[in-house]
Amino acid sequence: MNGNPVTLDFCEHGTPDPQITVLKYLRDHRKMTGTKEGCGTGDCGSCMVALAQKNTEGYTVLYAVNSCLMLLGMLDGKHLITIEGIAKNGKLHPVQEALLHRKGTQCGFCTPGVAMSSFAAYESGRKFTPESIKEILSGNLCRCTGYESIREALIDLNKTAQSLTEPNIELPPALPGEFFWEGSMGPYIKPQTVSSLLEYKRKYPGYPIVSGASDFSVKNILEEPARRPLIDSSDLEELKHIQTEEGCIKIGAGSSVEAFKNELVPLYPAAEEYLLSFASLPVRIKASIGGSLAGASSVGDIMPLLLALNAQLELRTSGGNRTVSCKAFNTGYHAHLLEPYEIIYAVRIPLPSKTTKFFAHKQSRRKDMDISTLTFCMGFEVVNGTIYHASTGFGGMAPTPVSSGELEDFLNGRSFSEDTFARASALIPQLFSTISDVRGSADYRITIASHLLVSCFLETQGRNNDG
Ligand SMILES: Cc1cc2nc3c(=O)[nH]c(=O)nc-3n(C[C@H](O)[C@H](O)[C@H](O)COP(=O)(O)OP(=O)(O)OC[C@H]3O[C@@H](n4cnc5c(N)ncnc54)[C@H](O)[C@@H]3O)c2cc1C
Ligand code: FES
Ligand code: FES
Repeated sequence: MNGNPVTLDFCEHGTPDPQITVLKYLRDHRKMTGTKEGCGTGDCGSCMVALAQKNTEGYTVLYAVNSCLMLLGMLDGKHLITIEGIAKNGKLHPVQEALLHRKGTQCGFCTPGVAMSSFAAYESGRKFTPESIKEILSGNLCRCTGYESIREALIDLNKTAQSLTEPNIELPPALPGEFFWEGSMGPYIKPQTVSSLLEYKRKYPGYPIVSGASDFSVKNILEEPARRPLIDSSDLEELKHIQTEEGCIKIGAGSSVEAFKNELVPLYPAAEEYLLSFASLPVRIKASIGGSLAGASSVGDIMPLLLALNAQLELRTSGGNRTVSCKAFNTGYHAHLLEPYEIIYAVRIPLPSKTTKFFAHKQSRRKDMDISTLTFCMGFEVVNGTIYHASTGFGGMAPTPVSSGELEDFLNGRSFSEDTFARASALIPQLFSTISDVRGSADYRITIASHLLVSCFLETQGRNNDG
């Protein structure tokens, strides 16, 4: 941490369990209170720290991460940098200098988090443009709304920006073997291979596997259970493997939403804006695809996209594997067909053809960092003016993300025209009986979903999937 090796001996009295969050470790156990606690649920960014680790290609990467969403045990083999560690030899870091010079702080509560998000970007050699700043600070909320001066400070940083391909940060060695610790919070198990993870899952089907911990940490802060047994899969490279095979791209379920975005967008550019509206950059870097699917939320953004892409899931147990269509995966409200000892291993997405068209839209009350009210995604082929292979994905319109077979049957074989989509749009009120909640009334959802079918035609007219 901050250039100094830290060894934790969990057998030693007073060492906290590895299940606690990095935020709690810093503030309560190390008295490093520069990292602030705001929401505790990944929404405000006041707890932001920077983390260096190896990526799947073996390069060192540095990124900002919400310390309230990361578990202490996940720090093994990584270099943690906190706000206390960025000034060197009594000299402020250029990010701190710039924020000071431009008066980019008012009450100061968000400032350490803003500085750490900016530090991770600066030390990774990112340029600061109005667009990149928006993304870099997408997880930082300034309640004093001092964004203009913060933005000016970051633009100033371009004067001293370094062009780097890899940050120059030393990494400690990771534990050489498996880690199994049972403390007061219950077992924390960190297997070294997927087959070992599946063995643990067979022995302890009730223990959740934890990947990005974004869901796990939020549940733990809201529910505060005494025991939090878990199997940590966050460092299993095999679960992050991405490859192209048999007309598909296969993406490991442990891949982050950001890695998923970076693979998918070159194939399906229409998914870019949709995926950029998923949480914030720091959350996307940690949250995994498998975690999103296993959460089975009716307003989760990943499943509607996969339904429209006609994707399949590879599921594994210690005894074997099976492949299921995403369309068959969810079985009800927060329910799916995963057995307790089974994991999502990978997602298979068909590659697009020259005639593929794709549309994806997330409707939420705020543009950034908001849960969707509803989502609509659709993939289809247009050959000689006729629609084929329509595949739909709706979120927020039923207890679980769904495809509409009726809508797909209506569209397939019809002409690709505004009239066809207007008629399809008129079917929506008959096809869905949705609910009203704090995010929108049933009427609102039906109206927006109907309009989105027409938007789908207007946006895909004259352009194929590749733009
Ligand atoms: C601030 C914030 C903003 C968010 N914004 C959005 C948003 O805009 N859109 C959206 O859709 N979601 C959003 N989410 C929810 C987010 O999708 C999930 O939190 C995340 O994707 C879960 O992934 P994870 O790796 O962090 O899961 P974890 O917390 O690690 O695990 C969650 C659950 O999934 C299970 N699990 C994980 N991996 C697997 C696997 N491979 N096989 C079987 N089970 C598995 C675990 O056992 C656990 O029960 C947000 C969350 C936060 C905290
Ligand atoms: S405390 Fe708000 S994001 Fe962590
Ligand atoms: S300066 Fe007060 S919250 Fe940002």
